[in-house]
Amino acid sequence: MQKTPHAMILGTGRAVPEKILTNADLERIVDTSDDWIVARTGIRQRHVAAPGSALSDLATEAARNALQNAGVGAEEIDLIILGTVTGDMKFPATACLVQEKLGAKNAVAFDLSAACSGFLYGLQIAEGMMASSGYRRVLVLGAEVLTSMVNWQDRDTCVLFGDGAGAAVLGPSDGGRGLLQTYLRSDGAHSNLLYNPGCGSVNPPTAENVAARLHTIHMEGKEVFRHAVTSMTEALKLVLEREGLRGEDLDLLIPHQANLRIIEAVVKRCKMPMEKVYVNVDRYGNTSAASIPIALDELRRSGDLRPGALVGVVTFGAGFTWAAGLIRI
Ligand code: ACO
Repeated sequence: MQKTPHAMILGTGRAVPEKILTNADLERIVDTSDDWIVARTGIRQRHVAAPGSALSDLATEAARNALQNAGVGAEEIDLIILGTVTGDMKFPATACLVQEKLGAKNAVAFDLSAACSGFLYGLQIAEGMMASSGYRRVLVLGAEVLTSMVNWQDRDTCVLFGDGAGAAVLGPSDGGRGLLQTYLRSDGAHSNLLYNPGCGSVNPPTAENVAARLHTIHMEGKEVFRHAVTSMTEALKLVLEREGLRGEDLDLLIPHQANLRIIEAVVKRCKMPMEKVYVNVDRYGNTSAASIPIALDELRRSGDLRPGALVGVVTFGAGFTWAAGLIRI
């Protein structure tokens, strides 16, 4: 079923920490190799924040870039939604800290926990609130300092993740451009395949729990891989079907950047040529909620996304959560 877009992207921005950790650097930390990481994931390097960095600083930088790109002032923003699982603190919401740093004093601000799906969940929630409650200038962010919860002794996970932030400013659609389709899914049955067991109410950060590294990322990689491919394929096919389109009709696909092999498997099942698929996982690793908005911003600023282009977006993450969308730029 086709739908009228209520929201369109007015501007985008991104920010990543300066420090780069290469696969060669990782070879000095754990028993791994550049060859293994590149062959199994496509990742060559990732940006890492200094220990103790504030996620809100990274997110604010991305937000400022997006506001400038959109030509929108901070005080015009009436809603801020930040997708993240690595906020500055458990509370208050990091979105409130971003609001303060930006000077967006008229905005309602909240965080959204959907792991790698945070940005796409944020887009749909933003559009819904714009349609139902009259919000007109909305900042949607995906930002993570995942390296703050990486176990640097676990080679299964520590090679995968990087830090970064991406942002989009939304405004009312002009009728043709904007969010043509969004589709969100969740399945808590698999929550134990990718999770951070410490720091919450079940395993508070006691000395024992921290020593057992419960505050770090735990993952069954193979299972996550399998579910990611199936779910991302299903979601992307569904949003295409709703518009009566096929994979080849897209001008570009921006998949969540977790693993090049996941991307290739989804693209093959959706019968798309890889030339139409944006890949930057080699430079950033998996930045979770930040991965799609970072890619979107790179593309918009490079001039490779002309207004009117039809872009597919698709993601998968802890929860499990997954989502897809179609955006007319
Ligand atoms: N360096 C060298 N060897 C390694 C490393 C490493 N960093 N990590 C694992 N290995 C070894 C394993 O120990 C294993 O050795 P063994 O055969 O002697 O037991 C071997 O490599 C193969 O390991 P597998 O786990 O079978 O490797 P696989 O091909 O499944 O790749 C990976 C692992 C990259 C984690 C993959 O499963 C994956 O990407 N899964 C998805 C994970 C993901 O993206 N999570 C992020 C959040 S969800 C999302 O964003 C989609």
